[in-house]
Amino acid sequence: MERIDKILSNHGYCTRKFAKLFLKDFDVTVNGTRLLEPSDKVNSVDMLINGEPLDHPEGIFILLNKPKGYVCSHDIADGRLVFELFPDQWLSRNPVPSTIGRLDKDTTGVLLITDNTKLIHMLISPKREIDKEYQVSVDKPLTDNLIKEFASGSLMLEKELKPCLPATLTITDATHATVVLHEGKYHQVKRMFSHFGYTVTELHRSRFGEYTLGDLAEGEWIDLNMPETA
Ligand code: URA
Repeated sequence: MERIDKILSNHGYCTRKFAKLFLKDFDVTVNGTRLLEPSDKVNSVDMLINGEPLDHPEGIFILLNKPKGYVCSHDIADGRLVFELFPDQWLSRNPVPSTIGRLDKDTTGVLLITDNTKLIHMLISPKREIDKEYQVSVDKPLTDNLIKEFASGSLMLEKELKPCLPATLTITDATHATVVLHEGKYHQVKRMFSHFGYTVTELHRSRFGEYTLGDLAEGEWIDLNMPETA
């Protein structure tokens, strides 16, 4: 059970200061009883606002099919933000939702977003070595030696202190490949190819661990079941 004013502010409905007014203006109920006292304690899952449950009362964990042109940042100075694809109210939540890892502005595909900080740590922890699968297009024909190089576990990228963990490269045709990484260094896929003189011309993440896009269209998102984080 939590104070009503805390629930309303943490879910982005109003600040704690305005909770009293919010309760006057909106029909907030639990089990049919109208709530008017911000300090009363209730379960957020039992609360209705004008007959509707709270937005994601138990937290946000979603999969977005990220379109090109959006950045994984909260800073509007960085350009169009992926968070513009969600309800404005999400940015008033506490904790505010964040991306689990990042995709570059020009990368498309599987992007996970949550407001559960434990879940973020769990899914980006290098110890867990969660698969990240990418579909890559490059500017010139690929050569088989890259398969060994990517798998070697000794590929050192500039300004890194440790080599890349072994990665699986599958060449699908002259200029296309699938890469599976178990870590997420900054611009890693582009830098791995660049190390061998290739420019990545298209990059799409097709899988993050068990999560894939299915038939989700670009710019659309779906709710996922929140995993246990304890
Ligand atoms: N590697 C990259 O270079 N860019 C991405 O967006 C993701 C992985």
